[in-house]
Amino acid sequence: MNEPILSEVKGHVAIVTLNRPDVLNALSVELMDKLIAVLEGFDRDANVRVIVLAGSEKAFAAGADIGDMAEASFLDMYERNNLARWTRIKQVRKPIIAAVSGFCLGGGCELAMHCDMIVASESAQFGQPEINIGVMPGAGGTQRLTRAIGKFRAMELILTGRFIPAAEAYEAGLVTKVVAKEQFLAEAIRLAETIASKSPVAARLAKEAVLAVDELGLTPGLDYERKLFYSLFATFDQKEGMKAFLEKRKPRFEGK
Ligand code: CAA
Repeated sequence: MNEPILSEVKGHVAIVTLNRPDVLNALSVELMDKLIAVLEGFDRDANVRVIVLAGSEKAFAAGADIGDMAEASFLDMYERNNLARWTRIKQVRKPIIAAVSGFCLGGGCELAMHCDMIVASESAQFGQPEINIGVMPGAGGTQRLTRAIGKFRAMELILTGRFIPAAEAYEAGLVTKVVAKEQFLAEAIRLAETIASKSPVAARLAKEAVLAVDELGLTPGLDYERKLFYSLFATFDQKEGMKAFLEKRKPRFEGK
């Protein structure tokens, strides 16, 4: 019951759940270590095509665990360098869908933004409230929130610590879709199953190409996309997908 990360696989979809209900899923060092190990395990698991990352109805996650760092010095934080390991989440190649309800704050919001899509319950609240405790986002919030919603809105949220409800987050471009409170997990799983029914290799390369927009300029980005597109012609799934279209039947993708 004290396991901070729970996981299960349904068909080709892995569901990973943050499980520290007493502290609104605050992201302790132990939780993050286990989360990263589980995500990397599913990234290697050939049966898994899409990952759903969920919290509870009350909280996706209320941020990094403040108790872990309240007394830390600059040197403690610098030597521990706990946030550097988050790069390994960015390196997961399979699509990850965040299923967000309740509080999605600080490191919690940053964790959701490491995912590829965010399905939010209408009760979800997003924010980067680190300013209220004398710090600032440290796991990508200043970069990813600004890319998601633009400088002028991100600046306000980061400098005031204001929480925004799901509807405002959707309107700003931070979330993929907003659904009723009872539906957020089921909807995230439905979306994952839809993606899992496509070619998994095409989905992985498409994710890589979309993420490259943050790293590359337009011309190298277009060049990169084109080469990934051509490379898919080395796969069974391309032959199967196009043949099935011409034969007017459903494709049977195998991820090879
Ligand atoms: N770390 C540790 N414990 C936390 C926590 C956190 N981030 N967030 C909530 N908790 C704990 C509370 O201490 C409380 O524990 P106790 O019952 O033992 O007192 C429990 O969770 C329930 O929280 P509240 O009683 O505060 O619940 P609430 O409904 O009144 O308020 C809240 C909810 C507005 C989310 C409030 O808990 C809050 O403001 N939490 C902190 C949010 C925050 O500042 N996040 C940023 C953290 S720093 C960070 O994330 C850095 C980074 O970029 C990586």
